[in-house]
Amino acid sequence: MAVRKFVERVEFAKGLEGAITNESSVGYVDGDRGDLVYRGYSIYDLAEHSTFEESSYLLLFGKLPTQKELDEFNKKLVGYRQIPGLTYDVLRLLPKTTHPMAAMRTAISSLGNADPDADKWDVEHYAEIGTKLIAQAPTVTAAIARLRKGLEPIAPDPNLSLAANLLYMLNGEKPDETTAKVLDVCLVLHQDHEQNASTFTCMVVESSQSDIYSVVTGGIGSLKGPLHGGANEQAITEIQNVRRLGGVAKVPEYVKDAQSKGKRFMGFGHRVYKAYDPRARILKKYADQLSSTPEDRELFDIAVAIEKQLEPYQERGIFPNVDFYSGIVYHSMGIERDMFTPLFVVGRMPGWVARVMEYLPENRLFRPRAIYIGEFDRQYMPIDQRK
Ligand code: CMC
Repeated sequence: MAVRKFVERVEFAKGLEGAITNESSVGYVDGDRGDLVYRGYSIYDLAEHSTFEESSYLLLFGKLPTQKELDEFNKKLVGYRQIPGLTYDVLRLLPKTTHPMAAMRTAISSLGNADPDADKWDVEHYAEIGTKLIAQAPTVTAAIARLRKGLEPIAPDPNLSLAANLLYMLNGEKPDETTAKVLDVCLVLHQDHEQNASTFTCMVVESSQSDIYSVVTGGIGSLKGPLHGGANEQAITEIQNVRRLGGVAKVPEYVKDAQSKGKRFMGFGHRVYKAYDPRARILKKYADQLSSTPEDRELFDIAVAIEKQLEPYQERGIFPNVDFYSGIVYHSMGIERDMFTPLFVVGRMPGWVARVMEYLPENRLFRPRAIYIGEFDRQYMPIDQRK
């Protein structure tokens, strides 16, 4: 009988650690130096000088836009902000207890049901619908936040930037310049991060020549998990728990207890960064600046104390990641904890779109293999003869 198992010794890494899937010029994570690059530009420069709209253009089309190109792109984004009635109807049907990320997954998928071009699989349609998705994700996010509280959604304001408009649609009030700018920076920091789980999910879905709505719906499902985007919600929950226990003074006890139970610290560690995550560095600065109320200040101080207590982990390459301080920044803006990961979706949408647009022209179906360790040649027994 022919041997049907893998006969050679095959090297493989669980979780595809270190595996290379493709070439890309969208962005680069320098895990040893703690740097992040979008299309050749450092995240430090983009966070300081760019905007979400401009960096989205950069990611999608590979160059910084001229003023005319940016104006046209902005016009398009503003024109696409409205979402179809169907999506509001779908959201209204969901139980109020639905987690916003589960609502997001359903709502973004429903956008495709209302788009007659949804199934067009080519770069032009991916770019166009991708731009639409970048514009619509904030509207969906704000609608979810309001409908579950029994509030009516607020129509987008065409005169506001994407970040300012998102805050406006969430709260019904136009934000001050600083808050809008900080949210804009947060969104820029989340735009792309190479072959992370959700981006890779998007690429796998695209690779079967599926539609872009399925692509980003898959991405949302992946981002939702606590080892990925969901970590921001978990991180602030832990910080708030320490506050309830008694605040900064309780940090050593909390860390010791978590260590004795073998728990992972949410918002720490990264598969690629073995140095300080640049996004966490930038967010820590803003968290410090924005934490003005006594509660926010205490949350920030607890976070800093946890980071200090976990300094010995740095020798093992475990540092705060993007999710550790982002929650404190969002909390200081009055954004509810379970809305943090939907904000991550808004931020990451351009990266997902840029990566699938890049992969599509040279598309090759992702189809890895697994080493089969099961049995062969088992005899099928009728059910009445099974023990
Ligand atoms: N707390 C405590 N120990 C940790 C942590 C952590 N957060 N992260 C890694 N370790 C330890 C882990 O226990 C293991 O120890 P040992 O070798 O003694 O068994 C070692 O570090 C290696 O762990 P790993 O799971 O093989 O490392 P990884 O590179 O696959 O981990 C990670 C990446 C993100 C899954 C992990 O760091 C983690 O679970 N972090 C907490 C969740 C989190 O913050 N996720 C957000 C990631 S960044 C934003 C995003 O991508 O969305």
